[in-house]
This record gives sequence, structure tokens and C-alpha cells, in this order.
Amino acid sequence: MSEAGQKRVLVIGGTRGVGLQIARLLHQRRYRVRVLARDPAKASTQLGSAFEVVAGDLTKADTLRPAVQGVGHIIFTAGAPSGRYASEALVKATDYDGVIDTLAAAQSAGFQGRFVYLNTIGIKTPSYAALLINLLKRNTLLWRRRVEDRIRGSGLDYTIIRVGFLLDRRGGMHAVSVSQGALPLVLSHRIARADAAEAFVEAMEHPRVSRATFEIVWGSGPRQQTWNQLLERLKPDCHEAASQQ
Ligand SMILES: NC(=O)c1ccc[n+]([C@@H]2O[C@H](COP(=O)([O-])OP(=O)(O)OC[C@H]3O[C@@H](n4cnc5c(N)ncnc54)[C@H](OP(=O)(O)O)[C@@H]3O)[C@@H](O)[C@H]2O)c1
Repeated sequence: MSEAGQKRVLVIGGTRGVGLQIARLLHQRRYRVRVLARDPAKASTQLGSAFEVVAGDLTKADTLRPAVQGVGHIIFTAGAPSGRYASEALVKATDYDGVIDTLAAAQSAGFQGRFVYLNTIGIKTPSYAALLINLLKRNTLLWRRRVEDRIRGSGLDYTIIRVGFLLDRRGGMHAVSVSQGALPLVLSHRIARADAAEAFVEAMEHPRVSRATFEIVWGSGPRQQTWNQLLERLKPDCHEAASQQ
């Protein structure tokens, strides 16, 4: 086991969906994995004893401080529930305040690692799907756009990965298109949760994506490039460019 492989990684959102796949992949790669859970008993049963589960809720800032103690990196995939109505108060509390409170907890704990944040494509480019999502999960894309600036301004090392529509499909089957523009949220921009999970684990310690923002969706044809080939050509956000991201 390498020294890096012994680092403890906190996954916020690790109880479900892409965050759960990230937690399992980190464990396979021999990281120590801590998962924040609103229902720790349920999460422990689901994850098993190899995972450290800590009780916490993004809408309760005090619960975040113990969660971030002693972690090497933080991967944040949590969000207000998808596919059903969420009030703007809940969206803001989860998708905006929850991130800011996590950053603040990390700073007060002396966190020195990377904050890897999952965002969605389409936060800057209007589309019909973005309009519908903002109606259902009230203004989620607005709060998620604002929170990116707070992450960039936090002073912490970070990587922001914007993902397309997430599918429960097998990973590794499709080419992955990695870009640094402002893709619109349209149904053709999609990606398997398994592929997105790999992107987060690969990006977490990749030097090229320190303080960088990028987007991932399926490309055409089968996967031919390694993650290193996909990530090594990316550029960090600069101050001028950050507001354009
Ligand atoms: N679905 C898509 O196509 C799509 C596209 C782009 C981006 N996204 C975003 O991608 C992320 C992952 O999506 P997913 O569908 O794979 O997973 P998901 O089912 O939306 O899982 C959301 C996670 O966030 C956690 N969470 C929610 N509120 C929380 C709170 N107050 N405190 C702590 N944890 C909280 C949930 O924990 P519990 O188990 O306690 O509920 C769960 O682990 C989400 O942020 C989603 O908005 C989704």
C-alpha cells in the first residue's frame, strides 16, 4: 500500500448515487473512506465495516466540524434531492450554505488537501432542461453557479467537475469528453455515474487539475484515452477566467 493510498478521504454525498460509487472506488484503491450520513445506522449497514461513517447534515453547520477532522481530501457530491420539488430555502441550505459551511469547517480544522466538488453542466448556459430543473429544484443552478465562486475564493486547493445527466450504466464503455467551456444541460450530454466516479477519484490528486474547473460528458465511440491523457491537457482557472467559467 502506498503512502498516498493510506489517506483518509471524506465523501459528502457518499450514501447514494455517484457519491456512493466514489466511496466504493476509493476503498478499492486503498484509501481510508469516511462518509457523512444523515442516517448513520442505515449508511453503516449499506457500506459495511470497512467504511467510517460519521453523522452529519449539511443544513446543520455544527455537525460538519467533526466530519472534516483529519481528512486528506474532501469529495462533495451531495445536493438537494433530484427529480422532485425542493423549495428554494432547502436548495440554498444544501447546495450553497452546505458547501460554504463545509469549506469553513475545513479551514478551521487546518485542512490542507483538495476539495473536489461535483457540479452540473448548464449552470451558465440557458436551456429548456435548465429552466425545468430550476422550476422543480428552485433555482438550484443559480445557487450552484454562485457557490463555484465561493470555492474558488476559499483559498483551499480545489477541483470543480461539472457532470452531464447521470445514468446508472456500466462504466468504461464510452469515450469521455472533457472540456472547459460552458456546455448546456441537454439530454445528449450525459455520462454514467460509474464514469463520473472514476473522474473524481482520478482528479483528486492529479496535479494538472489543482484549482481547475472542467466538464465531463460521454463522447462518441469507445473509451480510448486514459484518465491521465484526458486530464493532463486541462488548465487551471485564472482570476480573470474564473468569472467566465
Ligand atoms: N441526476 C442527474 O442527472 C444529475 C446531473 C448533474 C448533477 N447532479 C447532481 O449530482 C449529485 C449526485 O447525484 P446522484 O443522483 O448520483 O445522487 P443523489 O441520489 O442525488 O444523492 C444525493 C446525496 O446527497 C446527500 N444529501 C442530500 N442532502 C443532504 C444533507 N442535508 N446533508 C447531508 N447529505 C445530504 C444524500 O444523502 P441521503 O442519503 O441522506 O439522502 C445523498 O448521499 C447531486 O448533487 C445531484 O444534484 C445530478
